[in-house]
Amino acid sequence: MRILVTGGAGYIGSHTVIALIENGYDVVVIDNLSNSSPKSIERIEQITGRPVSFYEADILDKKAMNDILDKEKIDACIHFAGLKAVGESVQKPWEYYENNLQGTLVLVEAMKNHNVKNFIFSSSATVYGDPEFVPITEECPKKACTNPYGWTKSMLEQILTDIQKADSEWNVILLRYFNPIGAHKSGLIGENPNGIPNNLMPYITQVAVGKLKELGIFGNDYDTPDGTGVRDYIHVVDLAEGHVKALNKIKENCGLKIYNLGTGNGVSVLELVKTFEETTGQKIPYSIKPRRAGDVATVYASSALAEKELGWKARYGIREMCEDSWRWQSMNPNGFEE
Ligand code: NAD
Ligand code: UD1
Repeated sequence: MRILVTGGAGYIGSHTVIALIENGYDVVVIDNLSNSSPKSIERIEQITGRPVSFYEADILDKKAMNDILDKEKIDACIHFAGLKAVGESVQKPWEYYENNLQGTLVLVEAMKNHNVKNFIFSSSATVYGDPEFVPITEECPKKACTNPYGWTKSMLEQILTDIQKADSEWNVILLRYFNPIGAHKSGLIGENPNGIPNNLMPYITQVAVGKLKELGIFGNDYDTPDGTGVRDYIHVVDLAEGHVKALNKIKENCGLKIYNLGTGNGVSVLELVKTFEETTGQKIPYSIKPRRAGDVATVYASSALAEKELGWKARYGIREMCEDSWRWQSMNPNGFEE
C-alpha cells in the first residue's frame, strides 16, 4: 500500500513515516515546512536507508493536492498537517480555522476526486475538555474546548464523521492522542518547537541543555496526589506504531472508528521532572507558578479499545520517554538548525 502522509516532516509525522517504511509501506510525504525542517526528511532517509518521496506543498493548494494525487497512486492518507500551538490559536483564530479546517476540506476533496477514501486523522484528548471521568474512554462526552486549536480538532472530527456517514465507502479513523513525548532511539529526529516551548517535556529538555534557566510549574494546588497536573504521556514511537495498526483496521473496511492513544497511566509534573533527573542525571531547577488558564487537573486515557480492536498497546514507560527526549535534545541542542 502507498500512504500519503501530510505533515510528515513534523514531530509525530516523521516518526510515523519511519514506522510505515519499517512495516513495508510506500510513503509519500506532503509538508509545507511551516513548522518543520527538510532535515527531518534527510534524517528519516538516514534512519531507514530508503529514499522518501517528498513534496513541499500546502494542503490548502487545491491544484498541488490534485496534481500529487494524479501522479501518485495513493491507497490511504494519514493526515497530520495542521497548526497546533494552543496559545497562538487564541491570538490567530482565523489562521487556525483556515489552515486546519479549510486545509482538510481541500485534501478530502482531492482524495474524493481520486477515489481514495481511507483516512486517518490526528485528533487530540483536548476534545474531552475537562473530562467527565478518568480514565477517559471513547464514550466520554466531548466538551467545549478552551481554545481555537482544540475546536479545530473537535470540528474536524464532526466533519469527517459526517463525510463517512454520507458515503459508506469512506473508512475514517479518528485517533485521539494524549501527550506525546520522547523521540526516535537514534536521537536523529525529535520535537523541534519554535521559540519558547509551551509543552512540558521540551521545556524540561531546554532547561537541561542550558537554553532556559528554570522550569515554571503551573500550579501545585490541584486535586491530585502532589498537587501538580496529571497527564498521560505517551512515547512518540508507540504513537507512530498506533498508526500502523490503524491502517490494518482500515483494510477491514472499518467505516468510522475512534480510538484513544495513551498509556492509561497518569503522571504528575513533579513525577516527570523527578524521573527526568533520575534517568538523565540532569538537574532541573523549578519554581511554582500560578495555574495556566485552560489547564485541567487530571487527564489520562483508557486505551482498552485500541488494545482490543487494533491489538495496540504502548510499550514504553516514562523512563524511556525521558531518556529518548534527552538523547534527541542533547545531540541536537538547536533542533534541526546547525
Ligand atoms: P508538527 O507541527 O511537528 O507537525 C505538523 C506538520 O504539518 C508540520 O511539519 C507543518 O510544517 C505541517 N503543516 C502545517 N500546516 C500545513 C499545511 N497547510 N500544508 C502542509 N503542511 C502543513 O506537529 P505534531 O506534534 O507532529 O502534530 C501532528 C498532528 O498531531 C497535528 O495535527 C497536531 O494537531 C496533532 N496532535 C499533536 C499533539 C502533540 O502534542 N504534539 C497532540 C494531539 C494532536
Ligand atoms: C496541551 C494543550 C493540548 C495539546 C497538548 C499537546 C492546553 C490547555 N492543552 O496539553 O490542547 O493537545 O498540549 O500539544 O494547552 N506544565 C508546566 N510547566 C510548563 C508546561 C506545562 O507546569 O512549562 C504543566 C501543565 O500545567 C500540565 C502539564 O505540564 O499540567 C502538561 O502540559 P503540556 O505539555 O502543555 O500539555 P497539556 O496541557 O496536557
